Amino acid sequence: MRPLRRVLIVATVAVVLLCSAGVAGVAWMFNSKTISTAGEIEFVHALPVPPLAPSTVDGQGRRVFELRAQTGRHDFGDRTADTWGFNGAYLGPTLRAARGEQVLVNMHNELDEETTVHWHGMHLPARMDGGPHQMVPAGQSWHPTWKVDQPAATLWYHPHPHGETAKHVYRGLAGMFIVDEPTSSVGGLPDRYGVDDVPVIVQDKRFSRNGNLREGNTLFSSVGLIGDTIVVNGATAPYLDVTTERIRLRVLNASNARVFDFGFADDREFALVGTDGGLLTQPYRMKKVMLSPGERAEIVVDVRPGERTVLRSFAPDLGADSMTERLNGGEDTFDVLELRAADRLEESPELPSRLADIPRLDPKEAAETRKFTLSGTRINGEAMDMDRIDLTVTKGTTEVWELTSQEALQHNFHVHDVQFQVIDVAGAKPPPHLSGWKDTLYLRPNTKFRIIARFADHSDPNMPYMYHCHILYHEDEGMMGQFVVVEPGQKAGTPGGNHGGHGGGHQGHG
Ligand code: C2O
Ligand code: CU
Ligand code: CU
Repeated sequence: MRPLRRVLIVATVAVVLLCSAGVAGVAWMFNSKTISTAGEIEFVHALPVPPLAPSTVDGQGRRVFELRAQTGRHDFGDRTADTWGFNGAYLGPTLRAARGEQVLVNMHNELDEETTVHWHGMHLPARMDGGPHQMVPAGQSWHPTWKVDQPAATLWYHPHPHGETAKHVYRGLAGMFIVDEPTSSVGGLPDRYGVDDVPVIVQDKRFSRNGNLREGNTLFSSVGLIGDTIVVNGATAPYLDVTTERIRLRVLNASNARVFDFGFADDREFALVGTDGGLLTQPYRMKKVMLSPGERAEIVVDVRPGERTVLRSFAPDLGADSMTERLNGGEDTFDVLELRAADRLEESPELPSRLADIPRLDPKEAAETRKFTLSGTRINGEAMDMDRIDLTVTKGTTEVWELTSQEALQHNFHVHDVQFQVIDVAGAKPPPHLSGWKDTLYLRPNTKFRIIARFADHSDPNMPYMYHCHILYHEDEGMMGQFVVVEPGQKAGTPGGNHGGHGGGHQGHG
């Protein structure tokens, strides 16, 4: 054989081998990326219910809470990992206050690094918001105070340090903040915390062999961390004993990137009664509700004595391309939580047919219409800059924002300070789950969403609020912008108070 020919043959064989290895690799990557735990979970851990945070009332009539961000080791049920939490090793207590109350939170950062605590969904002054301008250095405290001034809702809190939010939330810093109406609850809605009104904080995790959390981005993912194990309130394979005919679940997607489409394994209907910013006008019977990171849904489920049913996340219709669907969780199915009804159930009242009034904001009265285009990890082509104010909103006005994701992968959009209403989705009336108050919205690719919000009060030309994609990796990569609310005629100032502790609230040593 002539040398040249031999080289050619060897080269050809090598190429063929490499190609088949490549094809096998791609096949492996595709096969290994679709996860289904449907019917496969043995639900062995009683669902932990986050404790209600104790509070005291101080001399000024303020409701005072204590929150300590700390490190710990948390038992997820079948493994123990190094984690972070508020007032404990993982997650945090449920804060609860009524509309009209002045609250004060003494937040102590006992971590070795700076963090913040942001009140997601809360209407409050920008200096109290806990965004990236309100950093709390390691070992220090922060004391935000504000008047709760919005309808009853399921809100939550989590850190917001720019570029580090994904890590801080993933390690476990998150909790619920329930806002109540000052008068008693809406008659007919289950409202006994931990009995028939239960927080369901859903997260996806990845564990390493030694049981610790794996923090890196998932291989081939364009959305950061996509986990393969579901934890609810910090427990894997959880079940909940139900003792009443109806149970209200306050479901929060506190994952970094995963979108869930919640329903029941036996296809039963439930009633959707609330979304991010409060109750809907009426209960809607439905079988599925999709939640992207940061979104909440309050659902009421009927059970019969002695039965079991499983809350499942079905493959969400992300509207993305098939590669993205496959690699970023669009084809995955998870069994999330088993409901176990007791043999004898306490009677529950009928659901009311009217829940809340939602006065519609009128687009004709909008002072501004703005466009936001999401692509890559940019909004309108720009990356987050702590020193740049992107928009100036005049206090007391209403604005229409047009949101479009131009990419065939998942993004959502969250706005601080306000709850908004969805005017339309690709020109059509929004579906029931987008018919109430929202602060976070899944942006189906290449679909125009028009939202409207009223910026009623809390002006501050120097302290911005954030808007951003709540896929935390995207947010950390700069898919975020800043707006200030100013008095009529006032100009935006310079973002103040960042780095070093002038960020509002009173800072001091913890
Ligand atoms: Cu849930 Cu800007 O955050
Ligand atoms: Cu927020
Ligand atoms: Cu995004």
